Amino acid sequence: MKNIALDGPAGAGKSTLAKNLAKALGYQYVDTGAIYRTIAYHYQMCGIGPRDKDNIHKFLGDANIEVKYEAGVQHMILNGTDVTDALRTPELSSFASTVSANPEVRKYLLQMQRQIAKHNDCVMDGRDIGTVVLPRADLKIYVTASAEVRAQRRLLELEAKGEKTSFAKVLADINARDEADMNRTVAPLKQAADAILLDTTQMDADEVLKAALALVRERGL
Ligand code: DC
Repeated sequence: MKNIALDGPAGAGKSTLAKNLAKALGYQYVDTGAIYRTIAYHYQMCGIGPRDKDNIHKFLGDANIEVKYEAGVQHMILNGTDVTDALRTPELSSFASTVSANPEVRKYLLQMQRQIAKHNDCVMDGRDIGTVVLPRADLKIYVTASAEVRAQRRLLELEAKGEKTSFAKVLADINARDEADMNRTVAPLKQAADAILLDTTQMDADEVLKAALALVRERGL
């Protein structure tokens, strides 16, 4: 199977690129952030805080998570219920970041991600795909952009969904999340030694896709 790993901080344009690239190549798009968000949602529903190690351990086995695809769109199923639409709130972004630092949680979700990649040509986006989940990926791209541009993009996304927030709040959230994701002990966000850096600060989605497709062609994928 062919696997492309996309990593980078929040709002860098990873998921837009991953979706566009997967569509152009006929691969499956795998959003691993949604998997971490689903586990965070599980704990939120159980009334467990993201730092409550004992209960995180105790309730981990109660989360039966399935990843399903309908017409190429990823759906997250938690204990039989489709929770996809509940996952993209700022609260869950922060909860998912904190709970994802727990080594047991990461271990629990690692095999799931590897199994998907083993059975599908895929573009997988996340934080540790090139470094930990798929160290032998055919192509690794580390997507980044300035914090201000990333915050602006995230603000537009949130506003489009009707959420009331401000640039300053979104920028502060993004900086706090990157700080946590880059400095956790297990599988922190970092560029893999063999990943190609793609800085999207000055690029629109089409330009980013073009740049990635050039890399894909170079690798003969
Ligand atoms: O990509 P996202 O914003 O949906 O991810 C939410 C959080 O999940 C992110 O802040 C850190 C965590 N995450 C992770 O630790 N490893 C991944 N491969 C993907 C996401």
